Amino acid sequence: MAQTAMEADAARAVDRDRLWRRLMEMGRIGGFTTEDGHEGVNRPCLSPLDREARRLLIGWARAAGLAVAIDPAANLFLRLEGRDASAAPVLTGSHMDSQPQGGRFDGSYGVLAGLEAVEAIAASGIRPQRPIEVVAWTNEEGGRFAPGCTGSMSFTKAEPMAKFDDIRDAEGIRYADALAEQLALESDLPSRPLGYIPHAYVEAHIEQGPRLEAEGMDIGVVTGIQGCRWFTVTVEGRTDHAGTTPLRLRKDAVQDAIRAIQALNALMHDPDDVLRFTVGSFRVKPDTSNSVAREVVFTIDFRHPDAKVLRDRGDAVAETVARAMTTCTARVYERFHAAPADFAPLVPDVVELAARNLGLAALRMPSGAFHDAQFLARLCPTGMIFIPCRGGVSHHPAEYATPEACANGARVLARVLCDLAAV
Ligand code: GLV
Ligand code: MN
Ligand code: MN
Repeated sequence: MAQTAMEADAARAVDRDRLWRRLMEMGRIGGFTTEDGHEGVNRPCLSPLDREARRLLIGWARAAGLAVAIDPAANLFLRLEGRDASAAPVLTGSHMDSQPQGGRFDGSYGVLAGLEAVEAIAASGIRPQRPIEVVAWTNEEGGRFAPGCTGSMSFTKAEPMAKFDDIRDAEGIRYADALAEQLALESDLPSRPLGYIPHAYVEAHIEQGPRLEAEGMDIGVVTGIQGCRWFTVTVEGRTDHAGTTPLRLRKDAVQDAIRAIQALNALMHDPDDVLRFTVGSFRVKPDTSNSVAREVVFTIDFRHPDAKVLRDRGDAVAETVARAMTTCTARVYERFHAAPADFAPLVPDVVELAARNLGLAALRMPSGAFHDAQFLARLCPTGMIFIPCRGGVSHHPAEYATPEACANGARVLARVLCDLAAV
């Protein structure tokens, strides 16, 4: 059979309803309903809920005849064997952990679209030349253990895995301990060493922004991912009585933290509104209304597509914070640094061609969110397939993509995987 005919068969075999049923079933693990009726997900990585989600995925994969394996970072691999078992696999996937107030599609969609695409390829009687592996990366979100992407950073050796050992969650549990517990619970799975060089990597994901929907497009052909740096700022002052201590004698950590954030707002000012600067967490100790704050810990999430802007302004964070202190002292710790990724043309071109062959309207676009693909791009030709999501909403229980949009992404993915795994 000609290659294009095989690709068409694989795309036709994508089962929209099965994909949707699985997304909804996966979404019930850690699922909750908000007062205004949205169905969100809170599935922290390496938690019992994460384990339940992995087990559900493993059950589907085994029923589809895929071989399951796990690596020391607890990244999970589902493999469709190729005619040449020794050839470098084509890798696809995403993550199954969520934000604390997350949605049902961020991450899970890419894993389940990968499974759907691989099942469709196998059901069409196609035996690709190369193996195709679907991966569920550990801890993409960084919601429980910050930073995110520790699974893909370990796999790609962007950072040594041991660097993450001592990260603690809000309850003080170490990442290394949670990982060891997870691996012990999955000890029935064949384990494999960390990392290999894939032939190519492609990740399907909801757009998490408004463009595709607003412009009436079916598919986003992702050309790259903007850079991102995360900092933790600790401002140390002294606790005192709120009723008796004159302001001039205080070391008020909240007041100096506010000064620091104002100075950072000025540093990060961008009239073009391209730069993204977020203080998403602000924790006060002792956190009572009638005591002066002894300590504030706040986070910075700073993103920009231009490596120079990311470097220059990011490098100025520590000094900006230090200069803003009046009575307190501050420490700045950088805990994540993902350089901007420009995808080589190979995979985006294959994605665009696949969308066109399916009669879908495709738009070339960069990604504002970070993804595991950012690290895979250092190893192999990489690309992403975006599908529209309602109102561009994500990291929110209202996150939603239609069953047809989800199926379109899986159809494109099935064609892309067939193409990339053919030679
Ligand atoms: C990923 O979840 C991101 O924050 O971009
Ligand atoms: Mn995601
Ligand atoms: Mn996310």
